[in-house]
Amino acid sequence: MRKRGRTSVIFFLCMAALLTGCGQKSAKEEINSIKIGVTVYDQYDTFVSQLMEHFKVYAREKSEETGIAINIEVYNASASQSAQNSQVEEMLGDGCNVICVNLVDRTEPTTIIDMAENQNVPVIFFNRELVAEDLERWNQLYYVGAKAFESGIMEGEIAADAFRKDPEADKNGDGVFQYVMLEGEAGHQDAIVRTEYAVSTIVDRGIEVEKLTYAIANWNRAQAQTKTAQIINEYGNQIELILSNNDDMALGAIDALKAAEIDREDWPVIVGIDGTDVGLEAVKSGELAGTVYNDGEGQALGMLNLAYALSMGEDISTLEMEEGKYIRLPYQKVMQTDVDEFLK
Ligand code: BGC
Repeated sequence: MRKRGRTSVIFFLCMAALLTGCGQKSAKEEINSIKIGVTVYDQYDTFVSQLMEHFKVYAREKSEETGIAINIEVYNASASQSAQNSQVEEMLGDGCNVICVNLVDRTEPTTIIDMAENQNVPVIFFNRELVAEDLERWNQLYYVGAKAFESGIMEGEIAADAFRKDPEADKNGDGVFQYVMLEGEAGHQDAIVRTEYAVSTIVDRGIEVEKLTYAIANWNRAQAQTKTAQIINEYGNQIELILSNNDDMALGAIDALKAAEIDREDWPVIVGIDGTDVGLEAVKSGELAGTVYNDGEGQALGMLNLAYALSMGEDISTLEMEEGKYIRLPYQKVMQTDVDEFLK
């Protein structure tokens, strides 16, 4: 019986690799299968679950291309750091060659780092960035993600352009953009940085802003709907802009506007970040003024290539990494005019 929250996927065991391995004694040819352990902070997070889908697809393709069986174990930490620590312990016990960790609490990587170092198993952290000092604790620690400030700047640019181009965006005509901020988890690097840079970018573009209020909705659509419904009750038509730290919360805000039966032409400008499938659909329909593509697909590929190279003992210096540790994919703005390219 497998433990709850764990799935195991065994990809394509290539007979050719098994056969050519017979009698060949070089170290490289002796490896015909690898095991990668992954633990995610919450398997129901839209962005993280899409990233994991891409990761599995890339693993299957890599397996077919190389003839190496890639066995992936995926655990759901269900927002518990102690559960995640136990999962890492189990993966190490299972003989995983590399562990990929989407930290629950990005300030608490110590237990995981110590356990992995004891067993000499490299760790790739992803999406939830630990502080640089923690990544320095051992030379087999890596991080795959993006530069959060870029997404904040792009979100601010989308909002500023909407204000400049559409006179209707300034509902009361006072020349000031009255906004509400929907924030992800307190303490998450993306929530902190996106919030700061989105607003400062609008201001840098010469637009005066007024913060009506904010809500922490933990990246979650349902929480964002509930909190936006309360904000609508309090501020109603004063809200000219909703800046959301991610698409799911922006979609929750849209759910609240619809539930409150507010006419479409009275909606504020709403901007998200991620470009998840549902987020892109909302850009296409015009409900979202735009989003910022967080390249989960590129992050999944970067993580798979690194995990594979580490497991096979290959030279990783050919992979594009900053400081030999960081793989960061760029963000991109997505507007209605180019959304189809991202939906493909
Ligand atoms: C994404 C969010 C996601 C969060 C999870 C962020 O980078 O934009 O959608 O919920 O990561 O850690």
